[in-house]
Amino acid sequence: MDSAKKKPRNLREVLRGKLSKRELGYLVKSFDSVGNIAVIEIPPELEKKEKVVGEALLSVNPRFETVCKISGAHKGSFRIQPVKVIAGKRNKTALYIESGCRMKVDLGKVFFSPRLSHERERISKLIKKGEVVGAFFAGVGPFPLVFAKNSPMEKAIAIELNPHAVKLMRENIALNKAQEKVEPVLGDVNKLASTKFRGKFDRAVMPLPKDAGGFLEATMLSIKPSGGVIHFYQFSPTDDPFSGPLKRIRETASKLGLKTRVLRKKMVRSFSAQTIQVVVDFRVKRA
Ligand SMILES: C[S@@+](CC[C@H](N)C(=O)[O-])C[C@H]1O[C@@H](n2cnc3c(N)ncnc32)[C@H](O)[C@@H]1O
Repeated sequence: MDSAKKKPRNLREVLRGKLSKRELGYLVKSFDSVGNIAVIEIPPELEKKEKVVGEALLSVNPRFETVCKISGAHKGSFRIQPVKVIAGKRNKTALYIESGCRMKVDLGKVFFSPRLSHERERISKLIKKGEVVGAFFAGVGPFPLVFAKNSPMEKAIAIELNPHAVKLMRENIALNKAQEKVEPVLGDVNKLASTKFRGKFDRAVMPLPKDAGGFLEATMLSIKPSGGVIHFYQFSPTDDPFSGPLKRIRETASKLGLKTRVLRKKMVRSFSAQTIQVVVDFRVKRA
């Protein structure tokens, strides 16, 4: 077959004739796929060519209707990452599917990352029949919805501070017919976990890796007095990922007079050259 007629298989191949060798060197190796929207990092050296990159991405991945570039870092307590459409339909609301759940995600107005999907699946397998789960920092609902579909839990209370995310979470709960399993709550985990939901949960998930330490006390108080499990996510230094989170857990438990037992320490994903995201699963109960 004439090689000139071969269909290009990947982004780099399509861009070979459109970017210089130097420009190709700046192209990132991967991008996030959030349903029908691709989210890619465009380095400053490629900014003038962002439309070319976006259109090339659409041409090799017909399932994408829109390509967005990341236009800033995660910021504020809602951890929102600004994005800008660079090719395709001018729409930032993705329909994302994970572990049999459909979710609407308004990129740029809520936090969302597909990169913790394996964690949602892992925890679903740990949840036992009848458990009541505190799904803290719930965003548009990926953790509680995946649990509702894939675990034998009784129900999850999904607490989230961003009203826009809670609105989408309500829509996503309806979309997945999970009204009996997931209860969305607009509010602050620190206020609610230690008061209204004190002593209520068999398990709590804390996917707020930047600040979760400041919520550990309230989260421990939300666990049933007979004991339960907490999944504590943190960003940590790559060369010593677990000392910090383990110390924080020990100190908080000792302040509250609680006993803890580490069940699992795990590196979740690398974040930057010096930073890694980790999770510590631990059991906590009255001493
Ligand atoms: C890293 S995101 C995780 C979102 C979601 N679990 C996911 O995986 O897509 C953290 C979420 O916590 C929310 N958040 C931040 N501070 C909070 C607080 N004090 N109480 C409740 N939610 C909070 C943010 O708005 C954000 O949606």
